[in-house]
Amino acid sequence: MADTRTIERTLIDTYTQANPKSRAAHERASRLLPGGVTHDVRAFTPFLPYIVRASGAHKWDLDGHEYVDYAMGHGALILGHAHPTLVAAVTRQVALGTHPGANHLLEIEWAERVQALVPGVEMVRFTSSGTEATLLALRLARAATGRRKVVKFQGHFHGWHDAVSPGQAPPYTDVPPGVTTATAGETVVLPVDLDVVGSALARDPEIAAVIVEPSGAAAGAVPLPAGFLQNLRALTSSRGVCLIMDEVITGFRWSPGGAQQAYGVRADLVTMAKILAGGLPGGAVAGRRDLLEPIGVASAAGRRIRHPGTFNANPLSAASGISCLDVIRDGKVHEQINAMTRSLLTEMNARFARRGVRGVAYGEASRFNLAFDQRLTPGDPQSLRNVPADALKEQRPTPVAASLALALLLRGVHLMAMGGFVSTAHTREDIAKTVDALDEALGEIQTLAPR
Ligand SMILES: Cc1ncc(COP(=O)(O)O)c(C=O)c1O
Repeated sequence: MADTRTIERTLIDTYTQANPKSRAAHERASRLLPGGVTHDVRAFTPFLPYIVRASGAHKWDLDGHEYVDYAMGHGALILGHAHPTLVAAVTRQVALGTHPGANHLLEIEWAERVQALVPGVEMVRFTSSGTEATLLALRLARAATGRRKVVKFQGHFHGWHDAVSPGQAPPYTDVPPGVTTATAGETVVLPVDLDVVGSALARDPEIAAVIVEPSGAAAGAVPLPAGFLQNLRALTSSRGVCLIMDEVITGFRWSPGGAQQAYGVRADLVTMAKILAGGLPGGAVAGRRDLLEPIGVASAAGRRIRHPGTFNANPLSAASGISCLDVIRDGKVHEQINAMTRSLLTEMNARFARRGVRGVAYGEASRFNLAFDQRLTPGDPQSLRNVPADALKEQRPTPVAASLALALLLRGVHLMAMGGFVSTAHTREDIAKTVDALDEALGEIQTLAPR
């Protein structure tokens, strides 16, 4: 029986030989770009393919391979790559100018779309990314409450600015390099446990906000217990603490109105990005008027909240965002892609069960995750409850997980880490191809699967 390293080595060798142009590009990139990449999640052994073109659910690399894509613009592309309506809208706008350096009508139309879809939106402020949106939301909460600290949950991701960087990986107590202990000390990292949150809020009058990924940590890799968000809403309200739902993933995906609509929970502020801008850069903070209004306007105390940003609500992102929100607004898109995702999950789990691989496919809406752990029953999502949150979050590479992404790439399927996003462009054929690729990939590395 081959050991883990032998299988990984074999896959790495096969993949490297099959991708000579991407390999050369990777070597060239590594001389200039840290780690050879431009986003942490794209660091991959030996390297990810270099993509030259994408359309619908597919993309093509420098060496001529075609992939069914589940990275889908890190979740931004709910309509697939290069959707014709969005391409037309952006093309029209690019000829009209990309930056008027003044107000423009598209920013109003875009905000009106957001208000029409997302519950509780009294005002909207656009940013250039999700990271900027959570940064601004926390600043608004601090300004409104006059308090210093924020609560975030273990493993929950809210971008890369300093206040949300602590608490990413077990044991969740680190001060990330480059973040001051003073800043990290103002971020209270808590487990997903209402008793612990309740006592923290009761004990500490300096807490301004609680920020949460409504999907659960890492885009739903660690789902939240049922009722958690509702109870968190009640707890935060009772203490005058702002509840910020970070809907960068769930916004416009969990439903046209995001997770607030899907779960019937109303936040004070919602942060959005990704689908909001239809695959171009863009983010927003939206919610209560009293929280957003002090931006740019002197309050009674004469203090205004500053928020410049060269590309806030830039016309290209606005044109793309408006078109995207118009396509998804009636929820038919969600019915289609959620059903497609459910059949992908069912089929994947059937393969895990048939091959006796201790893996489970699970997810919500059109987001799916794969987990591999000795405590799982092959293909049985119920057995996820046997796996502690830390292990789900970390996806400690079991032999299967470590090799699977590579074995799938070799078969024309690109996951994003151990999961992905389904778009309206994914067809039944794409799903069938993905499931066959998974089955074959599992077969290839099964000698290593923990049973
Ligand atoms: C929940 C969540 N919040 C914030 C962010 C940061 O968004 P951006 O990458 O646009 O800065 C992400 C990015 O994936 C995210 O998933």
